[in-house]
Amino acid sequence: MRINVITTYLFGLITLSYTDDNQYERSEKVERENAKTPPPITAEYHVVTNWPAKHVKYGQVSSVAYDSQSNVYVFHRGDRVWNSDTFYDNNLYKHRADGPIATETVLVLDPNTGHLVKSWGANMFYLPHGITIDAYDNIWITDVALHQVFKYPRLNSTTTATSNPLMTLGTAFTPGSSHKHFCKPTSVAVLPNGDFWVADGYCNARLIKFNSDGMFLSQIGRSTRTTGELTPAPYHFQVPHSMTLIPDQNILCVADRENGRLQCFDCHNGTFLQSLESDVIGRKIYGVSYSHMNGGVLYIVNGPQEFTPAVKIRGFVVDFRSQSIVSTFNPGGDEFHLPHDVISSDSGERLFVAEINPFRIWQFVRNDLNVTISDAMYTAAQPSASGLLSLPSLSGQEQGGALVLAVLVISAVLLVGIAVLVASFVYTKTTTGRRGKRRRAGSVEHLFLEETNLVH
Ligand SMILES: *[C@@H]1O[C@H](CO)[C@@H](O)[C@H](O)[C@H]1NC(C)=O
Ligand SMILES: *[C@@H]1O[C@H](CO)[C@@H](O)[C@H](O)[C@H]1NC(C)=O
Ligand SMILES: *[C@@H]1O[C@H](CO)[C@@H](O)[C@H](O)[C@H]1NC(C)=O
Repeated sequence: MRINVITTYLFGLITLSYTDDNQYERSEKVERENAKTPPPITAEYHVVTNWPAKHVKYGQVSSVAYDSQSNVYVFHRGDRVWNSDTFYDNNLYKHRADGPIATETVLVLDPNTGHLVKSWGANMFYLPHGITIDAYDNIWITDVALHQVFKYPRLNSTTTATSNPLMTLGTAFTPGSSHKHFCKPTSVAVLPNGDFWVADGYCNARLIKFNSDGMFLSQIGRSTRTTGELTPAPYHFQVPHSMTLIPDQNILCVADRENGRLQCFDCHNGTFLQSLESDVIGRKIYGVSYSHMNGGVLYIVNGPQEFTPAVKIRGFVVDFRSQSIVSTFNPGGDEFHLPHDVISSDSGERLFVAEINPFRIWQFVRNDLNVTISDAMYTAAQPSASGLLSLPSLSGQEQGGALVLAVLVISAVLLVGIAVLVASFVYTKTTTGRRGKRRRAGSVEHLFLEETNLVH
């Protein structure tokens, strides 16, 4: 297996760094080292077919979470998509007048049947991005149009489609970089003591720590987009896009999306510990999750690579101690197209991947488990109530379903068309795949690329 790893910094010491030119040599070296100490993990994953059930309808799936009762939370954008007409240049949301998304943006699914057990989040959100479930099943949301972060109480049988938040951070529709403002915040990570980190986000490139009451504690990070660094230093981000905690080791790892690396920090004081990158994963890391399986495993999803199209879009299982890629996962032999988030169950038995385009939510299970969902189960009507929770009426959503689906399908086709045009434009204008080239600011292609990169 070809594995190219790792820029490791320990206490500021660069122990290994490299350029693209010695890639082959380096892979051989890492391979030899791995041969000496074979990675401890052999588990691999396969996709669960017929999941979710046919009655589950959704738009762009931006994020996915998993609660203590093994329910899957799918956060999606309904009839909205994020494209170049979504924001003004100053990051203000253009479509405020349209009101919030009217349908339920959070769908709670049963991992074993794929059926909807609860839906929630109607008339609340404008452009969903991140969802995190904490140890008490509180729901943490980021909305990039509102530029806000919310904490909601755990869902129960009396929860209706709309709830009041327990905590609201940021100022609605007002981007900024103060302690009271965010700019397109991407995700939240909650520590066992209730303190939490917000990744902020598409414009600010910082991580902010708050205490459990929502009071500002500290922040780290600065943007590499303005400095144009070829080899970004620790604490420098392009888009901090997704976060995961390694609670037993007090570590927070952050997907530094366009820098194509994970940066890991002490989760209490924010001290940089190490970074991880790999030519196999490439230059886009969208999502990261952690499970304690076999001593600690990271799950990573990468994304489309403008300059290195040979890189495959997949999920990667990385042994945290050795930082070696031990396996990959992808749907049924196909690649992903635009995976946006990944979450693991605590024990790593199940993985869920949110995909923006096409609109998809995937479940993978470890090969030593079998989750079989019959065609009859897949096509069965949505139960009026099931297991965990009694359902609010969904009749309005059901009746509107066909129309919404048609709109969504047409949008998807248009988006794919645009993506192909953009890709071919970029490809023909690009002479080399070196990552350094795109950082030379000023050209039209550069600006165009930045724009297309950041509409997810
Ligand atoms: C359900 O959640 C609501 C909102 O948090 C709360 O007020 C209510 O007490 C909860 N009900 C039960 C039965 O837990
Ligand atoms: C942060 O915490 C680590 C322990 O995880 C400790 O070694 C380090 O000295 C701390 N740094 C600061 C600046 O407090
Ligand atoms: C899963 O199915 C395979 C055959 O498809 C079988 O060999 C294996 O024992 C099953 N595993 C479990 C845990 O049921």
